Amino acid sequence: MSGPHAIALAKVGKTYVGRGKSVEALKDVSLFCEPGSFTALIGPSGCGKSTVLRLALGLDVADSGEISIDGIAPTKATSAGLTGIAFQDAALMPWRSVSSNIALPLQVLNRNPKHYQEAITTLIELVGLSGFENALPGELSGGMRQRVAIARSLVTSPQVLFLDEPFGALDQILRRQMNIELQRIWMDTGSTALLVTHGIDEAVFLADKVVVMQGNPGRIVQSIDIPFARPRNKELFASADFHQLNDTVTRALHGE
Ligand SMILES: Nc1ncnc2c1ncn2[C@@H]1O[C@H](COP(=O)(O)OP(=O)(O)OP(=O)(O)O)[C@@H](O)[C@H]1O
Ligand SMILES: [Mg+2]
Repeated sequence: MSGPHAIALAKVGKTYVGRGKSVEALKDVSLFCEPGSFTALIGPSGCGKSTVLRLALGLDVADSGEISIDGIAPTKATSAGLTGIAFQDAALMPWRSVSSNIALPLQVLNRNPKHYQEAITTLIELVGLSGFENALPGELSGGMRQRVAIARSLVTSPQVLFLDEPFGALDQILRRQMNIELQRIWMDTGSTALLVTHGIDEAVFLADKVVVMQGNPGRIVQSIDIPFARPRNKELFASADFHQLNDTVTRALHGE
């Protein structure tokens, strides 16, 4: 199994039932991410974005509909190491070095990190952290920690990469630098990427397609193609075409 994989959700429904109260987190959500494409998922807090990722990773089960990672059930794709995930808060283990944090998914999959020394070194170079292999997370800046989390999400060479607000904690300037770096990393790895973000410009800058969700019930309201050529560079942020697409996404977010 090589090459990037498609992510497919067809009419997915998910309701959470708590003490006498139920939340329809997803209703009839259908989404197809082409192999090797970059999709951004954007929408108000609580509209079901992370739920989409959790279901696609097999961390939770849908009530209805179908989900597959290139035809394979999410739990199988995840246990085979086909998927990688990076979260908002980086969630690094403070007592483990950069290298050892990056190696963590290998242990979860019962693979021997010793066989991956070269791959880990290459990843550290890829995210620009050479020289920090033995540093502890507490000795790194926020942006460096998020790059460790991204390297960690790539250590199993996943064909599918899920990113849940990986740069949420960063300031605008650093965030744009990380957007450019993420594009480079994604282009180098050739994976299929699904990014959850609250940043409209981040979504438009990175994605081939921006998918807009609304909540109550959680659903997809619009899908907007982003045609800019790659690699995209920082000048794009200032272009008129970029602002126009930002406006289109903003209007969709406001339900217009
Ligand atoms: N384990 C759970 N039990 C009960 N309700 C849940 C659970 N997980 C999510 N929900 C509810 O489902 C809805 C969607 O949650 P989800 O985390 O997918 O939102 P989100 O779009 O990622 O929001 P945010 O942008 O704030 O991260 C919310 O109303 C949330 O309260
Ligand atoms: Mg979320």
